[in-house]
Amino acid sequence: MNQMTPPPKIEIIPASAPFSEAQRSWLNGFFVGLLSAEGPTALSAEQGAAIMQGPAGDGDDGGAPWHDQTIPIADRMKLAEGRPLRRRMMAAMAQQDCGQCGYNCNDYSDAIASKAEARLNLCVPGGKETARMLKSLHAELEKAQATSPSRALAPAAATPAVTAEPGRSRDNPVAATFVSRRLLNKPGSEKETWHIDFDLSGCGLDYVVGDSFGIFARNDLGHVDQIIALLGASHTTEVRGKTLREVLLDDVSLSPAPDSLFELFSYLTGGAQREKARALAQGEDPDGDAATLDVMAVLQKFSKVRPHPEAFVEALEPLQPRLYSISSSHNATPGKLSLTVDCVRYVIGKRQRLGVASTFLAERIQPGDEVQVYVQKAHSFALPQNPRTPIIMIGPGTGVAPFRAFLLDRKATGAQGKNWLFFGHQRSDCDFFYSDELKALKTSGHLTRLSLAWSRDGDKKFYVQDRMREVGRELWTWLAEGANVYICGDAKRMAKDVERALVDIVAQHGARSTDEAVSFVGELKKKGRFQQDVY
Ligand SMILES: Cc1cc2nc3c(=O)[nH]c(=O)nc-3n(C[C@H](O)[C@H](O)[C@H](O)COP(=O)(O)OP(=O)(O)OC[C@H]3O[C@@H](n4cnc5c(N)ncnc54)[C@H](O)[C@@H]3O)c2cc1C
Ligand SMILES: NC(=O)c1ccc[n+]([C@@H]2O[C@H](COP(=O)([O-])OP(=O)(O)OC[C@H]3O[C@@H](n4cnc5c(N)ncnc54)[C@H](OP(=O)(O)O)[C@@H]3O)[C@@H](O)[C@H]2O)c1
Repeated sequence: MNQMTPPPKIEIIPASAPFSEAQRSWLNGFFVGLLSAEGPTALSAEQGAAIMQGPAGDGDDGGAPWHDQTIPIADRMKLAEGRPLRRRMMAAMAQQDCGQCGYNCNDYSDAIASKAEARLNLCVPGGKETARMLKSLHAELEKAQATSPSRALAPAAATPAVTAEPGRSRDNPVAATFVSRRLLNKPGSEKETWHIDFDLSGCGLDYVVGDSFGIFARNDLGHVDQIIALLGASHTTEVRGKTLREVLLDDVSLSPAPDSLFELFSYLTGGAQREKARALAQGEDPDGDAATLDVMAVLQKFSKVRPHPEAFVEALEPLQPRLYSISSSHNATPGKLSLTVDCVRYVIGKRQRLGVASTFLAERIQPGDEVQVYVQKAHSFALPQNPRTPIIMIGPGTGVAPFRAFLLDRKATGAQGKNWLFFGHQRSDCDFFYSDELKALKTSGHLTRLSLAWSRDGDKKFYVQDRMREVGRELWTWLAEGANVYICGDAKRMAKDVERALVDIVAQHGARSTDEAVSFVGELKKKGRFQQDVY
């Protein structure tokens, strides 16, 4: 068995910080606790395996009934009750297999349970709910390790996310050059979606269509300076060997506020304010505003508290990279890479909130600037091996991104298979992305069919799945001819609704009962003929 070493004595709060000795020692303890809870601690093979097999040592059947991004976390956890820890950890994740954490959900949970991965905060779509649940399951893991350290079971299997090759994982990014951006919506649109171009010739990265591109964005400078002003600090204050401004720009997430920030505030204030901060740290919502609290809003809410910049920064989460489906083909334009990015801006109270990466790409990065990036290999989202296989692509909104790439790739490689694209968005006159290109591809025969659905042109919503139902007979014919089906875009509602439409089409035109149609579509998935890239 491995010897557990006691945590090192760490002095995080400097002696010069404006705290009494008692406060300083207490805050040091808090951060040491925080770090040791998150720091990697090697487990023996049998300890890891005991946890992999669950506290009761009852094994697991490998099924994952919770693996559906539309099931709320509480229900997912119910479905995983009585399962080994690693399975419950998987159920806590957002179930999108989106790759943002560098794994799929199954491998990420296995990696945490076997302690190959120490970071509990990588599931971006799961947000705070997932982070909280993982923290509590991780505490169980620590307890299980402390109480039954010597269970002799098979070693834990986990796939580490880190790959050594530069630019191939979030842990080893490289610099790419931003070339240009172009707005895809026309005047009158409610959307702001950008076509973004990068030059990869400097870093030498390549990719295949279906892959995603990871971007390390920077926070907005104006926002950062407002936070520094609220802290009453100078932007040149040194933190982690950099200036406070640099750390807030590049290293930490400023939205949403993490529980550790509320914990910090609870230690630095008293009375009702302390109770409030404590409740927020526990996931409660004492004032009904918890969902709106980004880091700046917390500083405004607890305006009498001014944490020391060092303590403040330590209480924040690292800024995570964001993934975007690649919308270009390396075969068509070697060394170039394009994205199709919907810009996230929304207003809460009087303040406009900015999506970090999308507004970075939409307005902050300038032509010639370098940005840290990596190519995230797709998990089962790729063109068919056989260039003659027909493909049906369903991609409303930014979901069109990988399909533009598929079409350009099939054109560049001279693939003979038929291509059918379902695209939809709000309005035909201002939200028809890449309309000229798509029409040209149709004219040249590279896009066999283009089916469109505009949700806000008429009185009633009309979505891609409504168009699919209208042309269900032909769609069934393509399926019967062996076509692959692809969906890309919104995970929460669109992907499920489109899948339901597909089941209905199979039932109606393939002369099957609903149950038979469900298993037909299930078989398509198993055979890799039905693939999704949803977020
Ligand atoms: C595999 C994959 C591929 C992807 N491909 C694309 C793509 O091709 N194009 C694309 O545009 N995106 C794509 N995304 C999504 C992308 O990664 C980012 O999540 C998205 O751009 C938002 O990131 P951000 O940093 O701008 O916003 P963030 O700073 O992450 O803010 C977004 C968060 O703000 C909150 N929010 C947003 N709107 C509101 C609102 N109205 N009210 C209250 N809260 C709100 C939500 O909590 C949301 O999660 C993809 C994601 C994955 C995983
Ligand atoms: N959390 C949310 O509520 C929400 C909503 C939309 C998008 N998003 C996210 O915003 C990002 C970018 O979105 P986007 O720009 O690609 O486009 P989008 O906002 O998802 O919209 C694209 C098109 O899809 C339509 N649509 C809405 N619900 C649908 C459904 N259930 N089935 C089929 N089509 C549907 C939209 O119609 P209408 O808008 O007219 O209904 C619009 O015409 C994505 O990350 C997406 O997940 C989140």
